[in-house]
Amino acid sequence: MPRFLPSALLAACLSSCLIGAALAGEPPPSGRLLASNCAQCHGTNGKGPGFDRLAGKSANSLYEELKEMQAGKEGDGLMQRHAMGYSDAQLRALAGYLSKQR
Ligand code: HEC
Repeated sequence: MPRFLPSALLAACLSSCLIGAALAGEPPPSGRLLASNCAQCHGTNGKGPGFDRLAGKSANSLYEELKEMQAGKEGDGLMQRHAMGYSDAQLRALAGYLSKQR
């Protein structure tokens, strides 16, 4: 059996489970799926451990920081590049979601 098969099956299951969950119940809170992209460096829902803790900061300051990083005015190259991948609406959704985490 090719070695990639188990992970391909797992990926297929994961995505169909996510779709199933999305169809079955309420949609996840706005920003939550986007924020899962930040977990590897800022912890689940921005609660650490990791780099700067994001959970519970004000939505405005998170948004402003992300916009400054997107514009290359703040942060190191890593966050600048990461911030560039999001639209304005996505940054607001991220900031709003993370600000509600405790
Ligand atoms: C690959 C690692 C990595 C990922 C993924 C990542 N970050 Fe960061 N982030 C950093 C590092 C390192 C810093 C601190 C250095 C800096 O400011 O650039 C930082 C800093 C920040 C800051 C500034 C916090 C402060 O108090 O100044 C914000 C806001 C932020 N990240 C938001 C996010 C969001 C939102 C995501 C997901 C969309 C994300 N980051 C994904 C590594 C990451």
